[in-house]
Amino acid sequence: MDAEQLGNDLTHVVATREELDRRIHEIAREIDGDYANLDKPLLLIGVLKGAVMVMADLARAISVPVHMDWMAVSSYGSGTKSSGVVRILKDLDIDLKDRHVLIVEDILDSGLTLSWLIKNLKSRGPASVEVMTMMRKPDAIKVQVDAKYIGLDIPNEFVVGFGLDYAEQYRNLREVAVLAPHVYQS
Ligand code: PRP
Repeated sequence: MDAEQLGNDLTHVVATREELDRRIHEIAREIDGDYANLDKPLLLIGVLKGAVMVMADLARAISVPVHMDWMAVSSYGSGTKSSGVVRILKDLDIDLKDRHVLIVEDILDSGLTLSWLIKNLKSRGPASVEVMTMMRKPDAIKVQVDAKYIGLDIPNEFVVGFGLDYAEQYRNLREVAVLAPHVYQS
C-alpha cells in the first residue's frame, strides 16, 4: 500500500521507500563489516509486530550468515506504553549463551521497551547485545538507549507505516507517514 492510496488519512510522508531502502542497505554493509568471521551466525532478534518489515528487508540485505528469532512484548499499565514495565508474550526459541545478538526494532520512541529488553537479553549470557532501529524519535526519549545502528531520526509525531500501526492498521504502508488527527480523534 502506498501513501497516495490513503488520501487524507495521512498529512505527509516523513520517510520515502527510497530513503528506507537506502538506509537499510547502508546499515547492512556496516553490519557485514562489524560481524565478519563470527564462530556462529549473528542472531537477529525481531520485536513483534512492528519489526517484521525492517527485519525482512535488513536480513535480506545482510551478507554475513544470520539466524532469526522473535520476541513479543507488551507494556503493563494504563494508557499506552509509558509504564516501563514490560511482560513477555512470546519468548525466544534460541538460547543466547555466547551468541552475538542484534535486536531489530522498527522504532525507538520513549526507549522504555528497548532499555528493558537489552537488560533482559544481557542476563541470558550472550557474547554481545546491540540494537538496530529503523526509526528514532529523539524528542520522545525518556530513557537513554545505546542503539548502534539508527536508520532515520523522525519528528515526535504520530507516524504509521513500514510496520508501525494505528489500531493494527497501516503496517503495510510502504512509506512512513504522519497520521491525520481526524483518524484517531474521531
Ligand atoms: C512499538 C515499537 C517498539 C516500542 C517503542 O511497539 O515496535 O517496540 O513501541 O516504544 P518505546 O520506545 O516508547 O518503548 P508496540 O508496543 O506499539 O507494539 P507493536 O510493535 O506490536 O505495534
